[in-house]
Amino acid sequence: MPGLFYSPDRVWQVVAYLRSLAQRETPKGDAAHGAALFASRGCAGCHRVAGQGGRSGPDLTQIGSSRSVRHLREAMTNPDADVRQRYWVVTARGEDGRPVNGFLMNEDTYTVQLFDDVGNLRSLSKPGLRDYAVAKKSKMPSFAKLPAAELDNLVAYLGSLRRPGGVR
Ligand code: HEC
Repeated sequence: MPGLFYSPDRVWQVVAYLRSLAQRETPKGDAAHGAALFASRGCAGCHRVAGQGGRSGPDLTQIGSSRSVRHLREAMTNPDADVRQRYWVVTARGEDGRPVNGFLMNEDTYTVQLFDDVGNLRSLSKPGLRDYAVAKKSKMPSFAKLPAAELDNLVAYLGSLRRPGGVR
């Protein structure tokens, strides 16, 4: 397909979307209860929906349009299973010993770019760092211990967050 260039992240989203169409399954929970749990269980502290909420996790405003029910459930019960590079966790220490933590944006042999804990984009020179490590792990805690009915309700709520006018 000449002239069609997608960033790796975009390609990944398209693949996930096509996969989700193939695996469409209707969630059995109650979306309204799920919305209340989203606030009371602390999800909104890290995730934004329609402009409200925290920024330490992905914006979930349209998550139901691109993810299968199975993926949504697994994201809560086993967050480390499938972490996009944008959310890999960098822990570093500068020459002054001060810690710099954040999400990996990009890296090459000599530099690393990351979104720090307050969401600023930073570029660090690797030779100037005392410690440097990247973990392909999620910053999201596991919610596997929530009662099954609460998980169902949260999945129903997430599944209802769709692109306006998108494919159902
Ligand atoms: C401490 C911050 C934090 C909290 C609290 C949190 N999350 Fe997350 N969440 C993240 C991060 C970071 C990611 C991205 C890494 C990953 O995929 O696990 C994520 C990923 C997700 C994803 C996958 C998104 C995708 O694009 O596939 C879903 C769905 C999700 N969270 C839902 C929830 C729900 C529902 C709750 C509450 C029960 C919750 N999160 C609580 C930080 C958090």
